[in-house]
Amino acid sequence: MTEPLLQLSGVHASYGQVEVLRGVDLSVGEGEVVVLLGANGAGKTTTLRSICGMVGTRGSVRLGGTELTGKPTEWIVRQGISHVPQGRGVFGVLSVEENLRVGAWNRKDTKGIDADIDRWYDVFPRLAERRTQLAGGMSGGEQQMLAIARGLMARPRLLLLDEPSLGLAQIITRGLFAQLEAINREQSTSMLIVEQNAELALSFAARGYVLESGSIVLSGSADEVRGNEDMRRAYLGY
Ligand SMILES: Nc1ncnc2c1ncn2[C@@H]1O[C@H](COP(=O)(O)OP(=O)(O)OP(=O)(O)O)[C@@H](O)[C@H]1O
Ligand SMILES: [Mg+2]
Repeated sequence: MTEPLLQLSGVHASYGQVEVLRGVDLSVGEGEVVVLLGANGAGKTTTLRSICGMVGTRGSVRLGGTELTGKPTEWIVRQGISHVPQGRGVFGVLSVEENLRVGAWNRKDTKGIDADIDRWYDVFPRLAERRTQLAGGMSGGEQQMLAIARGLMARPRLLLLDEPSLGLAQIITRGLFAQLEAINREQSTSMLIVEQNAELALSFAARGYVLESGSIVLSGSADEVRGNEDMRRAYLGY
């Protein structure tokens, strides 16, 4: 059996003395969309940070068979991972367009880069209106749109998205997920998405995991996760 694109095995992560992840096993297949759910403080953000080498981690994180644990974040990113952190995460002193071009740091196909920038301006018209404005002066929601677009400008193999819908109006969120779906389909981009809107995320993802106090307590196909009674009560509210 071939190994999935991303494989976490027995991952423990700590901030100082405090252990936050307690043996997480999780995988994302080539071209697969996976959602990671869980209550506030469960360790979702830390899971993404452990993949990127941004927190002290024990255990194994492999990308395409290559061990990532212990490697510097910069090196990990160069293996084809884009990480869009929770909340902000843009260069405030650069303009919107400069942020998007920086996102394409690893590409030389000028035409393709321009086409991708236009695509994101279509998805997020607010960004087009503000293309010459400094990112730091924009609202939280606008910066969130820019951070997501910038992350995808690199055309990563694996996209890590932390609460992409946070601070976005519902209609913008729906447009964003439609676009993520199109990118996944067209470019086979694998995605691991942390999302508070469980219903929306499960309608898009193939599989899901639920994290509780640093351990995976439920995993399965999106339908299985959606159908789980505890899950429904805790996150879907019915
Ligand atoms: N830099 C840090 N230093 C110390 N403890 C931290 C740090 N970041 C997070 N924690 C703690 O680690 C635990 C997991 O945090 P994490 O941010 O991964 O949770 P989360 O599932 O992303 O939560 P949320 O839904 O609120 O974003 C929490 O108890 C949090 O207080
Ligand atoms: Mg978080």
